[in-house]
Amino acid sequence: MPTSKIAGIGYYVPQQIVTNNDLKKYMDTSDEWIQERTGIKERRYAHRTEETTTTMGVEAAKIAIERAGLTAQDIDFIVFATLSPDYYFPGCGVLVQRAMQMKEIGALDIRNQCSGFVYALSVADQFIKTGMYKNILVIGSEKHSFGLDLTTRGRNVSVIFGDGAGAVVLQATEKTGQGIISTHLHSDGQSAELLAMYNPGTHANHWVKEEVASFSNAPIGDMFMSNEMIDKAQNFPFMDGQAVFKKAIIKFPEVIMEALTKNNLAASDIDLLVPHQANLRISQYVQQKLGLRDDQVFNNIQQFGNTTAASIPIALCQAWEEGKVKNGDLVCLAAFGSGFTWASALIRW
Ligand code: UT7
Repeated sequence: MPTSKIAGIGYYVPQQIVTNNDLKKYMDTSDEWIQERTGIKERRYAHRTEETTTTMGVEAAKIAIERAGLTAQDIDFIVFATLSPDYYFPGCGVLVQRAMQMKEIGALDIRNQCSGFVYALSVADQFIKTGMYKNILVIGSEKHSFGLDLTTRGRNVSVIFGDGAGAVVLQATEKTGQGIISTHLHSDGQSAELLAMYNPGTHANHWVKEEVASFSNAPIGDMFMSNEMIDKAQNFPFMDGQAVFKKAIIKFPEVIMEALTKNNLAASDIDLLVPHQANLRISQYVQQKLGLRDDQVFNNIQQFGNTTAASIPIALCQAWEEGKVKNGDLVCLAAFGSGFTWASALIRW
């Protein structure tokens, strides 16, 4: 049975740097507050009209494909993870297929937010293990800046997020001892509304009575989209940050340990943990809980903010470019976010 390895990796971030002080132009916030609570110093915002979630994904994909020694014509399948797609439908996968002039291959979009890239990697891994495809392009990309409430009202959410994209080519290999060892996927929909963008959507207030009623921006949902939604700022993401934080610090270590235990490994065996860049404080808590040294954990949230589905491939690529991921290393990816969903992957590089 073939296994899958990362044959090429790339990332792309937009040019425009937005510092914490820049955000003070729009909202009541401070560099101190943002750095102290999240570790973030700056993030990137895409060009408003010339860059989209797809175009950034394509830029990352070009690098990954070239580094794999392939061309776009060699790709058998696309898996695209994002929560900020160019269109409500169709997904970004088909836009990549068109933009890169690929063959009429399958294209799948994944909607698992912060866990999206690990879910996407897992799906691609299964297709390779069954022998169905040989070279799969896996992309995580976000253009958050287009959909944030950049006023004081939305500051608890908007200061965290940034734009960017990362991509890998997952390739079939017969070589043993290299590639994806295992992936672990989880969800708990009980807290679906605690980190969500309700509108536009087809919920018609179906869930409002119990789960959502107490939220300040509980959705108006008897129409897919309405002026009232926009007037009441109900077309922006909602996050109960503290509830998410509390769950994240439980589920991150749990899903990492699940991957290690399954493979008879210990935390000390990890050469590099690349956690989803949600909040530097979460990463630091996970590091401490697992007893990992600083050089065993890679963080770049300080530079790019939280780029959701893009954060892991961007961080993994940056770590690889800096020589922090070498052949034979045990790399662990882990994520937690909206859904709630959480996931991990163990890779022998
Ligand atoms: O990747 C997706 C998963 N997401 C996460 O993992 C996020 C997890 N949660 C978090 O990272 C944290 O909850 C946040 C960083 C989002 C917020 O930190 P917090 O310590 O939970 O702050 P808070 O929301 O409880 O707000 C504390 C105070 C409030 O003021 P009062 O009521 O104490 O006067 C907020 O109004 O801080 C205020 N505040 C801000 N002040 C300055 C909230 N956002 C800001 C801001 N600048 N941007």
